Amino acid sequence: MQLGIVTLFPEMFAAVTDHGISGRAVRLGLMNLELFNPRDYTTDKHRTVDDKPFGGGPGMLMKTEPLIASITAAREAVSQKQTIGEKARVIYLSPQGQTLKQGSIIDLAKRESMVLLCGRYQGIDNRVLENEIDEEWSLGDFIISGGELAAMILIDAMTRFQPGALGDEGSALEDSFSNGLLHSPEYTRPQSIDGSDVPKVLLSGDHEAIRKWRLKQSLGATWLKRPDLLESMSLEIEQEELLEQFKQDHGRFKA
Ligand SMILES: C[S@@+](CC[C@H](N)C(=O)[O-])C[C@H]1O[C@@H](n2cnc3c(N)ncnc32)[C@H](O)[C@@H]1O
Repeated sequence: MQLGIVTLFPEMFAAVTDHGISGRAVRLGLMNLELFNPRDYTTDKHRTVDDKPFGGGPGMLMKTEPLIASITAAREAVSQKQTIGEKARVIYLSPQGQTLKQGSIIDLAKRESMVLLCGRYQGIDNRVLENEIDEEWSLGDFIISGGELAAMILIDAMTRFQPGALGDEGSALEDSFSNGLLHSPEYTRPQSIDGSDVPKVLLSGDHEAIRKWRLKQSLGATWLKRPDLLESMSLEIEQEELLEQFKQDHGRFKA
């Protein structure tokens, strides 16, 4: 995946290029990040990247000309590296965008390229939004100070779906939300801590019993912690039965 990133703080991206799963994906050439700083596209001696909003009001906006020039450069650079010729879309990380969910991450991760624009200050001129931006994506209904962290979160989440990025490719598909449910509880050694034991079924070696137990716990965790997720799903018969069993066990445990 080819990523062009427009940012006033390119050094922040070391967090994804130098560490963990995303760092490994970059080293393996599965993800390629190219950084474009609007400051490098200024023409004044102070290299100004902010400007006052028309009509007054608090705060500044990103200065328009260097912003457009850096988006154009990013789009061209990324498009040149594509093999299937589909134009790279420009994504603005913005609190006003659609909220990112695991389903949208899976779709976005299939693209060959994209440009990510990280806003700063009070954001960008509305004409840049209308003329240069193809999509807006948000982390959620809250405000952070800049789009860099949002872009890095998006990159990290997409990395998990790049073939070869994870040691075990199945693990991304088993993560919470990938099948609409929360992940089942997991245990590691020791087998017993302060009198609290690992569920016996996980030690049984019975793969079918373990699969059913995990599915039941996954349904139960979703019912307890995120019932809204279940409301938008239609469960298969086995899932309905296991969830019913979980509810009964839970009721007995609480009584
Ligand atoms: C301080 S915010 C600007 C918020 C803007 N004045 C508003 O109220 O919509 C600066 C930048 O942070 C990024 N940002 C803030 N909150 C975000 C969120 N929830 N998701 C994605 N990006 C966000 C955007 O790139 C934005 O341009």
